Amino acid sequence: MNVVSLESLDVAGKKVLLRCDLNVPIKEGVIKDDGRIRASLPTIKYLLGQGASVIITAHLGRPKGERKPELSLAPVALRLGELLGTTVRFSPEIVGADLGSVQAGDVVLLENIRYEASETSKDEAERLGLAKELASYADVFVSDGFGAVHRKHASVYDVASLLPHAAGYLVAAEVEVLTKLTDNPARPYGVVLGGAKVSDKIGVISNLLDKVNVLAIGGGMLFTFLAAQGHEIGKSLVEEDLIPTVKELLERAEKLGVQLLLPTDIVVAPEFSIDAQPTTVNADSIPAAQMGLDIGPKSAEAFAAAIRQCQTVFWNGPMGVFEFPNFAHGTKVVAQALTEVQGLSVVGGGDSAAAVRTLGFADSDFGYISTGGGASLEYLEGKELPGISALA
Ligand code: 3PG
Repeated sequence: MNVVSLESLDVAGKKVLLRCDLNVPIKEGVIKDDGRIRASLPTIKYLLGQGASVIITAHLGRPKGERKPELSLAPVALRLGELLGTTVRFSPEIVGADLGSVQAGDVVLLENIRYEASETSKDEAERLGLAKELASYADVFVSDGFGAVHRKHASVYDVASLLPHAAGYLVAAEVEVLTKLTDNPARPYGVVLGGAKVSDKIGVISNLLDKVNVLAIGGGMLFTFLAAQGHEIGKSLVEEDLIPTVKELLERAEKLGVQLLLPTDIVVAPEFSIDAQPTTVNADSIPAAQMGLDIGPKSAEAFAAAIRQCQTVFWNGPMGVFEFPNFAHGTKVVAQALTEVQGLSVVGGGDSAAAVRTLGFADSDFGYISTGGGASLEYLEGKELPGISALA
Protein backbone atom coordinates (compact mmCIF):
# COMPACT_ATOMS: atom_id res chain seq x y z
CA MET A 1 0.00 0.00 0.00
CA ASN A 2 1.36 3.42 -0.99
CA VAL A 3 1.17 5.99 1.75
CA VAL A 4 1.85 9.74 1.52
CA SER A 5 5.50 10.31 2.43
CA LEU A 6 6.56 12.83 5.05
CA GLU A 7 8.69 14.82 2.60
CA SER A 8 5.77 15.30 0.24
CA LEU A 9 3.65 17.00 2.94
CA ASP A 10 4.19 20.72 3.42
CA VAL A 11 4.94 21.04 7.13
CA ALA A 12 7.17 24.13 7.08
CA GLY A 13 6.05 26.52 9.81
CA LYS A 14 2.84 24.53 10.26
CA LYS A 15 1.11 23.19 13.36
CA VAL A 16 1.48 19.43 13.11
CA LEU A 17 -0.66 16.92 14.96
CA LEU A 18 1.60 13.88 15.38
CA ARG A 19 0.30 10.45 16.45
CA CYS A 20 3.05 8.46 18.18
CA ASP A 21 3.04 5.10 19.94
CA LEU A 22 4.49 6.00 23.33
CA ASN A 23 2.97 2.98 25.06
CA VAL A 24 6.06 2.10 27.10
CA PRO A 25 6.33 -0.13 30.18
CA ILE A 26 6.19 2.06 33.31
CA LYS A 27 6.50 0.74 36.88
CA GLU A 28 5.93 3.11 39.80
CA GLY A 29 6.48 6.11 37.54
CA VAL A 30 9.75 4.72 36.10
CA ILE A 31 10.00 3.96 32.37
CA LYS A 32 11.43 0.45 31.98
CA ASP A 33 12.13 0.57 28.25
CA ASP A 34 12.10 3.80 26.24
CA GLY A 35 12.46 2.11 22.83
CA ARG A 36 9.17 3.46 21.49
CA ILE A 37 10.05 7.01 22.59
CA ARG A 38 13.43 6.79 20.86
CA ALA A 39 11.78 5.37 17.74
CA SER A 40 9.59 8.49 17.56
CA LEU A 41 12.52 10.93 17.56
CA PRO A 42 13.48 11.05 13.84
CA THR A 43 10.06 12.32 12.77
CA ILE A 44 9.83 14.84 15.64
CA LYS A 45 13.32 16.14 14.84
CA TYR A 46 12.50 16.43 11.13
CA LEU A 47 9.32 18.40 11.90
CA LEU A 48 11.18 20.74 14.27
CA GLY A 49 13.88 21.18 11.62
CA GLN A 50 11.14 22.34 9.25
CA GLY A 51 10.08 25.06 11.67
CA ALA A 52 6.88 23.25 12.63
CA SER A 53 5.27 23.10 16.05
CA VAL A 54 4.50 19.56 17.11
CA ILE A 55 1.42 18.52 19.07
CA ILE A 56 1.74 14.86 19.97
CA THR A 57 -1.14 12.56 20.76
CA ALA A 58 -0.53 9.04 22.10
CA HIS A 59 -1.97 6.36 24.38
CA LEU A 60 -0.69 4.45 27.39
CA GLY A 61 -2.25 1.13 28.37
CA ARG A 62 -6.00 0.65 28.20
CA PRO A 63 -7.69 3.05 30.66
CA LYS A 64 -11.03 2.67 28.81
CA GLY A 65 -12.18 6.25 29.16
CA GLU A 66 -11.11 6.63 32.82
CA ARG A 67 -8.44 9.05 34.05
CA LYS A 68 -6.27 6.40 35.72
CA PRO A 69 -3.29 8.28 37.24
CA GLU A 70 -0.91 5.34 36.77
CA LEU A 71 -1.57 5.57 33.02
CA SER A 72 -0.68 9.25 32.69
CA LEU A 73 1.78 10.18 29.94
CA ALA A 74 3.44 12.79 32.19
CA PRO A 75 6.63 10.67 32.77
CA VAL A 76 6.86 10.14 29.01
CA ALA A 77 6.82 13.92 28.38
CA LEU A 78 9.83 14.24 30.69
CA ARG A 79 11.77 11.43 29.01
CA LEU A 80 10.94 12.73 25.54
CA GLY A 81 12.22 16.16 26.58
CA GLU A 82 15.48 14.60 27.84
CA LEU A 83 15.99 12.71 24.59
CA LEU A 84 15.18 15.75 22.43
CA GLY A 85 17.20 18.10 24.60
CA THR A 86 14.28 20.51 24.80
CA THR A 87 11.29 21.13 27.04
CA VAL A 88 8.25 19.11 26.12
CA ARG A 89 5.11 20.83 27.35
CA PHE A 90 2.61 18.41 28.84
CA SER A 91 -1.09 19.14 28.46
CA PRO A 92 -3.29 17.32 31.01
CA GLU A 93 -6.27 18.38 28.86
CA ILE A 94 -7.03 16.49 25.69
CA VAL A 95 -10.32 18.05 24.66
CA GLY A 96 -10.12 21.81 25.21
CA ALA A 97 -6.32 21.84 25.49
CA ASP A 98 -4.96 25.37 25.72
CA LEU A 99 -2.60 25.52 22.74
CA GLY A 100 -3.01 29.19 21.87
CA SER A 101 0.57 30.10 22.77
CA VAL A 102 2.20 27.25 20.85
CA GLN A 103 4.94 28.54 18.55
CA ALA A 104 7.28 27.19 15.90
CA GLY A 105 9.75 24.79 17.53
CA ASP A 106 7.45 23.91 20.46
CA VAL A 107 6.64 20.32 21.35
CA VAL A 108 3.47 19.54 23.31
CA LEU A 109 2.40 16.11 24.48
CA LEU A 110 -1.32 15.70 25.14
CA GLU A 111 -2.41 13.43 28.02
CA ASN A 112 -3.29 9.77 27.31
CA ILE A 113 -5.81 9.91 24.48
CA ARG A 114 -7.52 6.78 25.83
CA TYR A 115 -8.71 8.79 28.84
CA GLU A 116 -11.32 9.83 26.28
CA ALA A 117 -13.79 6.97 25.77
CA SER A 118 -14.57 8.22 22.26
CA GLU A 119 -11.00 7.44 21.11
CA THR A 120 -11.74 3.72 20.96
CA SER A 121 -15.52 3.90 20.43
CA LYS A 122 -17.18 1.62 17.88
CA ASP A 123 -19.54 4.50 17.11
CA GLU A 124 -18.09 6.40 14.12
CA ALA A 125 -19.81 9.67 15.04
CA GLU A 126 -18.37 9.59 18.56
CA ARG A 127 -14.88 8.96 17.24
CA LEU A 128 -15.24 11.65 14.63
CA GLY A 129 -16.22 14.16 17.35
CA LEU A 130 -12.89 13.59 19.11
CA ALA A 131 -10.99 13.53 15.82
CA LYS A 132 -12.46 16.97 14.94
CA GLU A 133 -11.25 18.33 18.27
CA LEU A 134 -7.73 17.01 17.61
CA ALA A 135 -7.80 18.28 14.03
CA SER A 136 -8.73 21.77 15.26
CA TYR A 137 -5.31 21.98 16.97
CA ALA A 138 -3.32 21.63 13.76
CA ASP A 139 -2.89 22.31 10.04
CA VAL A 140 -1.67 18.83 9.11
CA PHE A 141 -1.57 15.30 10.55
CA VAL A 142 1.44 12.99 10.64
CA SER A 143 0.87 9.39 11.67
CA ASP A 144 3.91 7.74 13.23
CA GLY A 145 2.45 5.47 15.92
CA PHE A 146 3.05 2.20 14.08
CA GLY A 147 2.14 0.07 17.12
CA ALA A 148 -1.43 1.39 16.96
CA VAL A 149 -2.11 1.41 13.20
CA HIS A 150 -4.19 -1.77 13.48
CA ARG A 151 -6.66 0.17 15.65
CA LYS A 152 -9.61 2.03 14.10
CA HIS A 153 -9.30 4.78 16.67
CA ALA A 154 -10.03 8.52 16.44
CA SER A 155 -6.39 9.63 16.73
CA VAL A 156 -5.13 6.91 14.40
CA TYR A 157 -7.77 6.59 11.70
CA ASP A 158 -10.51 9.25 11.76
CA VAL A 159 -8.29 12.29 12.10
CA ALA A 160 -6.53 11.41 8.83
CA SER A 161 -9.81 12.07 6.98
CA LEU A 162 -9.91 15.64 8.33
CA LEU A 163 -6.43 17.02 7.62
CA PRO A 164 -3.74 16.81 4.94
CA HIS A 165 -1.68 13.86 6.14
CA ALA A 166 1.45 11.73 5.76
CA ALA A 167 3.17 8.71 7.27
CA GLY A 168 6.04 9.52 9.63
CA TYR A 169 9.49 7.95 9.26
CA LEU A 170 8.77 5.16 11.74
CA VAL A 171 5.59 4.03 9.99
CA ALA A 172 7.40 4.17 6.64
CA ALA A 173 10.37 2.15 7.98
CA GLU A 174 8.16 -0.48 9.61
CA VAL A 175 6.12 -0.98 6.45
CA GLU A 176 9.28 -1.26 4.35
CA VAL A 177 10.75 -3.99 6.55
CA LEU A 178 7.53 -5.94 7.07
CA THR A 179 6.88 -5.92 3.32
CA LYS A 180 10.10 -7.92 2.96
CA LEU A 181 8.44 -10.60 5.09
CA THR A 182 5.14 -10.63 3.23
CA ASP A 183 6.33 -10.21 -0.38
CA ASN A 184 8.40 -13.17 -1.37
CA PRO A 185 10.53 -13.64 1.77
CA ALA A 186 13.90 -15.33 1.31
CA ARG A 187 13.48 -18.99 2.34
CA PRO A 188 13.48 -20.86 4.60
CA TYR A 189 11.13 -18.43 6.35
CA GLY A 190 10.63 -19.07 10.07
CA VAL A 191 8.31 -17.50 12.62
CA VAL A 192 8.83 -17.91 16.37
CA LEU A 193 5.83 -17.12 18.53
CA GLY A 194 5.60 -16.90 22.29
CA GLY A 195 3.54 -15.00 24.80
CA ALA A 196 0.89 -16.05 27.24
CA LYS A 197 -2.31 -16.60 25.33
CA VAL A 198 -3.14 -18.80 22.36
CA SER A 199 -6.36 -16.80 21.91
CA ASP A 200 -4.27 -13.71 21.01
CA LYS A 201 -2.27 -15.61 18.40
CA ILE A 202 -4.61 -18.23 17.00
CA GLY A 203 -5.58 -16.11 13.97
CA VAL A 204 -1.94 -15.33 13.24
CA ILE A 205 -0.87 -18.96 13.48
CA SER A 206 -3.68 -20.05 11.22
CA ASN A 207 -2.94 -17.34 8.62
CA LEU A 208 0.81 -17.90 8.71
CA LEU A 209 0.70 -21.67 8.25
CA ASP A 210 0.63 -21.52 4.47
CA LYS A 211 3.28 -18.79 4.32
CA VAL A 212 6.09 -20.14 6.51
CA ASN A 213 8.49 -23.11 6.40
CA VAL A 214 9.18 -23.23 10.14
CA LEU A 215 6.89 -22.26 13.02
CA ALA A 216 8.23 -22.54 16.57
CA ILE A 217 5.87 -22.16 19.53
CA GLY A 218 6.99 -21.22 23.03
CA GLY A 219 5.67 -19.09 25.90
CA GLY A 220 2.58 -19.74 27.98
CA MET A 221 0.56 -20.66 24.92
CA LEU A 222 2.64 -23.77 24.21
CA PHE A 223 0.85 -25.66 26.99
CA THR A 224 -2.45 -25.55 25.11
CA PHE A 225 -0.54 -27.21 22.25
CA LEU A 226 0.88 -29.86 24.59
CA ALA A 227 -2.61 -30.44 26.02
CA ALA A 228 -3.95 -30.79 22.44
CA GLN A 229 -1.34 -33.54 21.91
CA GLY A 230 -2.77 -35.31 24.95
CA HIS A 231 0.06 -34.52 27.39
CA GLU A 232 -0.25 -33.78 31.10
CA ILE A 233 0.57 -30.12 31.71
CA GLY A 234 0.23 -29.87 35.50
CA LYS A 235 -0.67 -26.37 36.71
CA SER A 236 0.56 -24.68 33.50
CA LEU A 237 -1.48 -22.04 31.67
CA VAL A 238 -4.06 -23.56 29.37
CA GLU A 239 -7.03 -22.39 27.31
CA GLU A 240 -9.17 -25.54 27.34
CA ASP A 241 -11.75 -24.17 24.91
CA LEU A 242 -9.09 -23.76 22.23
CA ILE A 243 -7.80 -27.34 22.36
CA PRO A 244 -9.97 -28.49 19.39
CA THR A 245 -8.81 -25.50 17.28
CA VAL A 246 -5.18 -26.19 18.17
CA LYS A 247 -5.63 -29.86 17.15
CA GLU A 248 -6.86 -28.69 13.73
CA LEU A 249 -3.87 -26.35 13.42
CA LEU A 250 -1.48 -29.20 14.20
CA GLU A 251 -3.13 -31.36 11.50
CA ARG A 252 -3.04 -28.52 8.94
CA ALA A 253 0.64 -27.85 9.66
CA GLU A 254 1.41 -31.51 8.99
CA LYS A 255 -0.54 -31.53 5.71
CA LEU A 256 1.19 -28.34 4.55
CA GLY A 257 4.64 -29.72 5.40
CA VAL A 258 5.37 -26.88 7.84
CA GLN A 259 8.04 -27.77 10.38
CA LEU A 260 6.08 -26.99 13.54
CA LEU A 261 8.40 -27.00 16.53
CA LEU A 262 7.10 -27.54 20.04
CA PRO A 263 9.38 -27.94 23.06
CA THR A 264 10.43 -31.41 24.12
CA ASP A 265 11.55 -30.27 27.56
CA ILE A 266 10.16 -27.65 29.92
CA VAL A 267 11.48 -25.74 32.94
CA VAL A 268 8.84 -26.09 35.64
CA ALA A 269 8.35 -24.73 39.16
CA PRO A 270 5.77 -25.20 41.90
CA GLU A 271 4.61 -21.59 41.69
CA PHE A 272 4.87 -18.38 39.67
CA SER A 273 7.50 -16.44 41.59
CA ILE A 274 10.96 -15.00 41.08
CA ASP A 275 12.59 -17.41 43.57
CA ALA A 276 10.58 -20.51 42.62
CA GLN A 277 12.78 -23.63 42.40
CA PRO A 278 13.30 -24.58 38.71
CA THR A 279 13.41 -28.19 37.48
CA THR A 280 13.66 -29.42 33.88
CA VAL A 281 11.26 -32.19 32.85
CA ASN A 282 10.18 -33.84 29.60
CA ALA A 283 7.37 -31.95 27.86
CA ASP A 284 5.16 -35.06 27.95
CA SER A 285 5.44 -35.54 31.70
CA ILE A 286 4.94 -32.29 33.59
CA PRO A 287 4.17 -33.23 37.22
CA ALA A 288 0.67 -32.36 38.47
CA ALA A 289 1.95 -29.94 41.14
CA GLN A 290 4.25 -27.98 38.79
CA MET A 291 3.75 -25.30 36.16
CA GLY A 292 5.85 -24.65 33.06
CA LEU A 293 7.64 -21.29 33.13
CA ASP A 294 10.17 -21.65 30.29
CA ILE A 295 11.10 -23.92 27.42
CA GLY A 296 13.86 -26.37 28.41
CA PRO A 297 17.52 -26.16 27.31
CA LYS A 298 17.22 -28.97 24.70
CA SER A 299 14.21 -27.26 23.15
CA ALA A 300 15.92 -23.87 23.18
CA GLU A 301 18.84 -25.44 21.28
CA ALA A 302 16.49 -27.10 18.77
CA PHE A 303 14.65 -23.80 18.20
CA ALA A 304 17.98 -21.97 17.85
CA ALA A 305 19.27 -24.50 15.28
CA ALA A 306 16.08 -24.13 13.19
CA ILE A 307 16.24 -20.31 13.41
CA ARG A 308 19.90 -20.20 12.33
CA GLN A 309 19.03 -22.14 9.15
CA CYS A 310 16.40 -19.62 8.10
CA GLN A 311 17.02 -16.76 5.68
CA THR A 312 14.09 -14.78 7.08
CA VAL A 313 12.94 -14.93 10.71
CA PHE A 314 10.25 -13.05 12.59
CA TRP A 315 9.96 -13.43 16.36
CA ASN A 316 7.17 -12.21 18.60
CA GLY A 317 6.65 -13.13 22.25
CA PRO A 318 9.03 -14.33 24.98
CA MET A 319 9.64 -18.09 25.36
CA GLY A 320 9.20 -18.02 29.13
CA VAL A 321 8.98 -15.70 32.12
CA PHE A 322 12.14 -13.84 31.11
CA GLU A 323 11.66 -11.27 33.91
CA PHE A 324 12.65 -14.06 36.38
CA PRO A 325 16.34 -15.00 35.80
CA ASN A 326 15.66 -18.73 36.42
CA PHE A 327 13.18 -18.76 33.53
CA ALA A 328 14.92 -16.47 31.03
CA HIS A 329 17.19 -19.05 29.37
CA GLY A 330 14.84 -20.01 26.51
CA THR A 331 14.20 -16.40 25.52
CA LYS A 332 17.94 -15.64 25.69
CA VAL A 333 18.92 -18.59 23.46
CA VAL A 334 16.23 -17.72 20.89
CA ALA A 335 17.30 -14.05 20.90
CA GLN A 336 20.94 -15.08 20.46
CA ALA A 337 20.01 -17.32 17.50
CA LEU A 338 18.20 -14.41 15.84
CA THR A 339 21.39 -12.35 16.06
CA GLU A 340 23.16 -15.14 14.12
CA VAL A 341 20.71 -15.31 11.20
CA GLN A 342 22.49 -14.69 7.88
CA GLY A 343 19.44 -13.11 6.26
CA LEU A 344 16.78 -10.84 7.76
CA SER A 345 15.85 -11.16 11.44
CA VAL A 346 12.97 -9.12 12.82
CA VAL A 347 11.94 -8.86 16.47
CA GLY A 348 8.34 -7.72 16.75
CA GLY A 349 6.41 -6.20 19.58
CA GLY A 350 6.84 -4.11 22.68
CA ASP A 351 7.31 -7.13 24.98
CA SER A 352 9.83 -8.90 22.78
CA ALA A 353 11.77 -5.69 22.16
CA ALA A 354 11.84 -4.99 25.91
CA ALA A 355 12.89 -8.63 26.51
CA VAL A 356 15.92 -8.47 24.24
CA ARG A 357 17.04 -5.16 25.74
CA THR A 358 16.52 -6.43 29.31
CA LEU A 359 18.60 -9.50 28.44
CA GLY A 360 21.48 -7.27 27.33
CA PHE A 361 21.19 -7.37 23.54
CA ALA A 362 21.63 -4.20 21.49
CA ASP A 363 19.08 -3.12 18.88
CA SER A 364 21.83 -3.34 16.27
CA ASP A 365 22.25 -7.10 16.96
CA PHE A 366 19.05 -7.70 14.98
CA GLY A 367 18.02 -6.89 11.42
CA TYR A 368 15.14 -4.81 12.72
CA ILE A 369 13.18 -4.33 15.93
CA SER A 370 9.58 -3.53 15.18
CA THR A 371 7.76 -1.32 17.67
CA GLY A 372 4.49 -3.00 16.77
CA GLY A 373 3.21 -6.14 18.48
CA GLY A 374 -0.36 -6.65 17.32
CA ALA A 375 0.23 -4.29 14.41
CA SER A 376 3.20 -6.22 13.01
CA LEU A 377 1.41 -9.56 13.43
CA GLU A 378 -1.69 -8.28 11.64
CA TYR A 379 0.52 -6.88 8.88
CA LEU A 380 2.18 -10.30 8.45
CA GLU A 381 -1.22 -11.95 8.33
CA GLY A 382 -2.03 -9.77 5.32
CA LYS A 383 -4.85 -7.92 7.10
CA GLU A 384 -5.77 -4.37 6.13
CA LEU A 385 -4.60 -1.96 8.84
CA PRO A 386 -6.99 1.02 9.20
CA GLY A 387 -4.26 3.41 10.30
CA ILE A 388 -2.22 2.61 7.15
CA SER A 389 -5.12 2.63 4.69
CA ALA A 390 -6.06 6.08 6.02
CA LEU A 391 -2.68 7.44 4.90
CA ALA A 392 -3.09 6.65 1.19
C1 3PG B 1 0.95 -2.10 21.64
O1 3PG B 1 1.43 -2.07 22.79
O2 3PG B 1 0.98 -3.13 20.93
C2 3PG B 1 0.41 -0.84 21.05
O3 3PG B 1 0.76 0.29 21.79
C3 3PG B 1 -1.10 -0.96 20.88
O4 3PG B 1 -1.69 -1.10 22.14
P1 3PG B 1 -3.12 -1.80 22.27
O5 3PG B 1 -2.96 -3.27 21.99
O6 3PG B 1 -3.60 -1.51 23.66
O7 3PG B 1 -4.04 -1.17 21.21
